[in-house]
Amino acid sequence: MSFSYPILPGGHLLAIEGLEAPHIAALLDLAESYALLNRQGKTQRDLLRGRTLINLFFEDSTRTRTSFEIAGKRLGADVINMSVSNSSVNKGETLLDTASTLNAMNTDLLVVRHGQSGAPALLAQKVSAAVINAGDGTHEHPTQALLDALTIRRHKGDLRNLVVAICGDISHSRVARSNIHLLSAMGAEVRLVAPPTLLPAEVGRLGVSVFHDMRKGLAGADVVMMLRLQRERMAAGGLVPSAREFFRFYGLDAEKLSFAKPDSIVMHPGPMNRGIEIDSAIADHPTRSVIGEQVEMGVALRMAVLDVLARGLRRNG
Ligand code: ASP
Ligand code: CP
Repeated sequence: MSFSYPILPGGHLLAIEGLEAPHIAALLDLAESYALLNRQGKTQRDLLRGRTLINLFFEDSTRTRTSFEIAGKRLGADVINMSVSNSSVNKGETLLDTASTLNAMNTDLLVVRHGQSGAPALLAQKVSAAVINAGDGTHEHPTQALLDALTIRRHKGDLRNLVVAICGDISHSRVARSNIHLLSAMGAEVRLVAPPTLLPAEVGRLGVSVFHDMRKGLAGADVVMMLRLQRERMAAGGLVPSAREFFRFYGLDAEKLSFAKPDSIVMHPGPMNRGIEIDSAIADHPTRSVIGEQVEMGVALRMAVLDVLARGLRRNG
């Protein structure tokens, strides 16, 4: 595939905010072609041969770190997973010094997850590698929103005019923020369904509609996206009642899902807390749940992102 304009302006992927619909559509088209190749078992390519990708994760991850590793290896890159818990970060080295050290080893692609919003953007100013935000604080998780969009598109075709209900802990969710930007840019209608304590202060400026009642928020929805309660980011207690109460009002079960369209799909970025935000029978539903497919699309989408960024790398060969 060739493109007549830069798909990721700036040579990094730091956020969805700022990307325009044609950029997003081009990335999704490329990811779709990787999804098909992956399904056919045609996974060995050498687009990134001789390139080094470092996964630098300051927060826990199963899906994102592993899928960047698989994506990098499938494209022929040398992939290094930095274990921050065994690194010199423990001896007091700063984030910037850690990144400069990795940069000095001619790293081409740096995939960063960090608890501080804005950390990947700061690194992108200091290193010559292409930086990919793998989740920064409560700010953004751009590859998650892109893989979600790829999954939705495969089931619903066009994203335009779809009704997408994002439910649960919105205020602490970088997944929600990236999805709001992406879905709005692509012309979908976004609804947020949450208790008032789990909505961000800036909700009025996001161009979305807000519901506190699951049945009303889900009425007629094409897509129901559930989010985990991010207790690790809840400095203040008392934002949610007990897990049982939360499930009763905001947990997705068959009864609440019956208010959405009969062919609506159920999504969750993972990790799931079954019985808190989602009932097991819905999470494992053979036709409605696309949670497994989201993970599969994560590899294809990340291959597309690495492919696009590799085309713009400053150091050639
Ligand atoms: N895995 C996603 C993230 O890192 C969502 C979550 O942790 O609940 O943002
Ligand atoms: N969805 C997601 O980012 O999962 P991990 O935290 O396991 O990477």
